[in-house]
Parts: sequence; structure tokens; C-alpha cells
Amino acid sequence: MLQVEHFRHLQAEVTDWRRHLHRNPELDFAVYETARFVTEKLASFGVNHIETRIAETGIVAIIQGQGGLGPTIGLRADMDALPIQESTGKPWSSQFDGKMHACGHDGHTAMLLGAAKYLASNRDFKGSVALIFQPAEEVELPSGGFKMVEDGFLDRFNIERVYGMHNWPGIAVGEFGLRAGSLMASQDDFDIVVRGKGGHAAAPHLTVDPVPTAAQIVLGLQTLVSRSTDPLDALVVSVTKQSASFAYNVIADQAEMAGTVRTLSPALRDFAERRIEEVARCIAMAHGAEIDFRYRRSVPVTFNDAEATKSAIQAARSVGRAVDDQIKPVMGSEDFAYMLKARPGALVFLGNGSSAPVHNPAYDFDDEAIPYGIGYWVNLVKSELGDERVLLTRQ
Ligand code: NI
Repeated sequence: MLQVEHFRHLQAEVTDWRRHLHRNPELDFAVYETARFVTEKLASFGVNHIETRIAETGIVAIIQGQGGLGPTIGLRADMDALPIQESTGKPWSSQFDGKMHACGHDGHTAMLLGAAKYLASNRDFKGSVALIFQPAEEVELPSGGFKMVEDGFLDRFNIERVYGMHNWPGIAVGEFGLRAGSLMASQDDFDIVVRGKGGHAAAPHLTVDPVPTAAQIVLGLQTLVSRSTDPLDALVVSVTKQSASFAYNVIADQAEMAGTVRTLSPALRDFAERRIEEVARCIAMAHGAEIDFRYRRSVPVTFNDAEATKSAIQAARSVGRAVDDQIKPVMGSEDFAYMLKARPGALVFLGNGSSAPVHNPAYDFDDEAIPYGIGYWVNLVKSELGDERVLLTRQ
């Protein structure tokens, strides 16, 4: 296992790459210039194989170790930016109005390239490393991770485990956070249309007013979490949109509402889908109204495999100043969850210090984190494919 000092010589070059990507943000699947930049770098390192255009702009590159036969593990970075107007005032600010790397994916991509450069010239490991660069992490379903998994690249390259990394404001630079089990929440959304009977607002008895029914449904959903689920299990049900008539004197035919569901438990996800519909339908029935219900499952729970998390902790400990291996899960979601659903693996948080939060116009990736991120990837490869691993297996 190597310490962070071993990777400092890469920091200046990788910082240049990171800032180049930051100046040139691209959105969703349309990360063409970013993918071109990544592909050119990978080719210049002398990797064994590069496949491009997976899910439009995704890339997988293979580096074969020289230590003998062994499995292939996948290391993943995301490449897309966000539709946000940057306000950092940094010299490397976005050159494009309304687009910025406000989630640090520029840092993720640059660090994985740094690790690729190192690994391509230090192949003292068994098996192979698959470097995975995905587009469209930030978009609604079908997102980049989803489409890449659907494309079948995990099978095609015989990838047995997958690892991801996300920078995390609020964790000090040089420190890491992770946990075995659920780390980030699933993300679903729902729409409910309450269908009643419209009319004149002065003659409510001649209508089936959908508005009070909709209001009761909102209140009914509040007790779904507070009265029906274990207080120690996390579930969020939020109604975020409501609309009906646009006039003062008209009772609408129908009222619409929509919201989101987040949870760390697949069982609670099933529960939420079933119970939201039942509560809405029964309240509507009590008022002579009907509902149309739509529940859409998006990103699954980001679930860290226990064994893979041990490797991740070992890698983080060897390079980091500190590792919180029991970090509190977060209720945000992450598209890497699709890869973790298909293969065992782990996502780790890399400290980004006291920066603005992600998805904020003042956010910027902290380049001081770069040697820690690269060191984590390299040590993870040693942990999974190095001699230490074989000794562990033989015991
Ligand atoms: Ni992100």
C-alpha cells in the first residue's frame, strides 16, 4: 500500500486536466469533447484496449496487469456537468453560460485518468483494471449508468466488482467516508390526478371538488412514514407539486399533485409504492372522486457490498488522513447504484473540505484532493489484485 506522498508528483498535471474539463463543461449524454479528451489521454498512456460510445458517450478502457491471471475490477468516474450558471469567479470558470461542473465530476474524471496513467506504467497486479467513464449521471432515467449497464459492458469485459468515488463537501480534504450496506437512497417519483366534477365556486354542492380531496391525500401521506414504518428506517415521502383551477370562481374538474420518495431500504420502497396508491385511492373514494396514479422507479439504493467495502476501507486508510467507515447514509441518490446493483462493489466519499455544497453555483472541486483520490484508486487495485489479496484468499 502506498502513501499519499507517492502520488503528489501527479497533482500538477492532473490539476491542469481538471481545470481544462471545468472550463469546458458538457451536459447529459452530450459529453463529446470530454469523451474525446478522456480517450486521447487513455490512448497516450498505452492502455490495452479502449471501447468508446457505450451508451452514446461512455468509455471503458482496460489495463492488464503483469502479475498473472486474475479477475477484472471496474473503477468508475462520471463526466457530465449541470445546467447551472457558475459564480465561483475562479480563473478556470466555465466558458459556457448556463453550464458548470457543480458536482465535481471534472475532478472525478481527472483523478481516474491520473490513476490510469499511474497503473498503465506500474502493472504489478494480477488480472485487469477496467476504467469506466460514464455520461449523464445527473439526468432523469434513463441515465448514463443505467444505459451502460443495460448495454452489457459488465459482462463483455468480465467485470466482477465495481468501485465508485464521489467528492464530498463537509469532509476534510484528505479524509474519506463510507459504510457497508446502504450509503445513498433510492429515488422514485409519483403523480396523482384526483378526478372530481367541476363547477361554479358558489355552488360547491353541485360539484365533486377535487381540491379538499387532494389536500386530505397530502395529509394522509404524512402519517405513512410517522405511523406505519419503523422509526429507525429512513423513508421520505414528499408531495412537491400541487395544482388545480387557475380561477378564483371555478371549482376544477381535477387536481394534480406529484412528489418524490427516498429510502435506504428496498422493502420500504415496495411499501411506499403500494401504500401511497392505497391511501390516495381510498381518500378519493370517500369523497366520491377517483384517482389516476403513476409511480416511477428511478435510481435504486446505493448499496455497498460488505467484502468490497473492506477493500475500500483498506485502500482509503493507507492513503487518507482519516477514514470514517461508519458514515451516516445520505438521502440523496447516485446513478452508480445501477452498477452496484449489477455487481458487488462500493462507493466512497472523498473529502472536498469546506467548499460550497454540490449543485451550488459557488461550488468548486478542491484540487488538493487529487493525490488522495488517485492514491485511493491505486491502493484499491493493490488491495483487490495485488499480493495482499492473494494471501488473504489463501488463508
Ligand atoms: Ni455528482
